[in-house]
Amino acid sequence: MGRSWGRLLARVAGYGFLVVLVLAALAITFTVGWRPVIGAKKRALTSRQFEVTPARLQRGDYLVHAVMHCMGCHTKYDRQQNPPVLASQEGSGQVLFEEGSLRIIAPNITSDRETGIGKWSEQDIVNLLKDGQTPDFDFVGGAMSAVVNDTAQLTDADRKAIAVFLKSVPAKPFGGKG
Ligand code: HEC
Repeated sequence: MGRSWGRLLARVAGYGFLVVLVLAALAITFTVGWRPVIGAKKRALTSRQFEVTPARLQRGDYLVHAVMHCMGCHTKYDRQQNPPVLASQEGSGQVLFEEGSLRIIAPNITSDRETGIGKWSEQDIVNLLKDGQTPDFDFVGGAMSAVVNDTAQLTDADRKAIAVFLKSVPAKPFGGKG
């Protein structure tokens, strides 16, 4: 009697465990998906470029500066100055926060080939704005993933305009500490 109760319990616990596993698998499949577990889908750098038109440049300039405020994070400040964002450093990135070994950086988004995104095509920029994935097979985190969420409200034409405008910003080395 005692033994068969024990077996029954073990069997129920075993099925319970299986059910939990299956539910967990389903939950992952239908929520965050398996990418965080198995890693990003590889996507190499592309070479796709878009035609540079005055309308695109103007629309991109407007979206970058007045709507998405890309340069507010990706450019150093001088708080003594008005406006504080340093035009000469536009897009060259900055150290947003540094404490001990923790360093949060808004990277250089000018076309500098060493420290910026000079190796990215316009299509790579559009892809990042769409799904948060960079050509390094990495996902942007933190503040930038919130920006990617916001860009969901833009159209593809808007994302292309942003990419074309970013490519027109003069390349500079990383801005460093603001
Ligand atoms: C609130 C601050 C903030 C704003 C606004 C912002 N970014 Fe970012 N961005 C970041 C941070 C922080 C990272 C680094 C994320 C990481 O390393 O995971 C980043 C990463 C990037 C990268 C990847 C660079 C690389 O070398 O991997 C690109 C490109 C980029 N941002 C472009 C933009 C564009 C275009 C906009 C406007 C549409 C924008 N960002 C707005 C903070 C911001």
